[in-house]
Amino acid sequence: MSARIVVLISGAGRNLQAIIDACATHRIDGDIVAVISNRAQAAGLARAQAAGIPTHVLAHQDFADRALYDAALAALIDRHQPDIVVLAGFMRILTADLVRHYRGRMLNIHPSLLPKYPGLHTHRRALEAGDHEHGATVHFVTEELDGGPAIVQGKLIVRPEDTEETLAERVMRDVELKIYPQAVAWLARGDVALVGDRVRFGPGPLRAPLQLDALAEEFR
Ligand code: GAR
Repeated sequence: MSARIVVLISGAGRNLQAIIDACATHRIDGDIVAVISNRAQAAGLARAQAAGIPTHVLAHQDFADRALYDAALAALIDRHQPDIVVLAGFMRILTADLVRHYRGRMLNIHPSLLPKYPGLHTHRRALEAGDHEHGATVHFVTEELDGGPAIVQGKLIVRPEDTEETLAERVMRDVELKIYPQAVAWLARGDVALVGDRVRFGPGPLRAPLQLDALAEEFR
């Protein structure tokens, strides 16, 4: 049965687009049943509309506090009865209640090689630290910010001429847009699951995040 997927965005929606495309071509056995943004100006909303996907804007400014916002957000998500909730550049810290509600069903992508650089400005921080490698990580969402069990990572070599912008673009194009659709496909198919605090991949526990070269050919 095809998985019902709800995607949360705040911005450009390039990861959203990659997941839309992977659903359309059946690389993901799933359908995006709604896209929700906390920002009315998020360019990703137009990508969803172009694909005929229902969209909602739930503006955080309209709520008195984080708990009230997250309660409304969970109610809106649950109206769509998702099997999978995908955070694709959703730039809000989520309350523990909301995160617990979707445990094992919610994925996030973060533009660093977690556990390095949780939070913001990851590309700048990697450059400032003189890192040789940088990349992105898809992980299950748990109560620890950017700290849930990792499923897959992609690495690239930092070039001497890289700026924050070139590095961000290379991480997006060469890593994020590949690993995120693959991770969603794995979860939709039941190839990956969160069991306790560990990721199960296939028959057994994952001891370290999978790497780009573990992606199926159609996602590389
Ligand atoms: C992506 O680079 C994603 O990894 C990052 O926001 C960007 C969204 O771009 N997410 C975070 O930093 C979450 N902590 P997109 O809207 O074009 O997919």
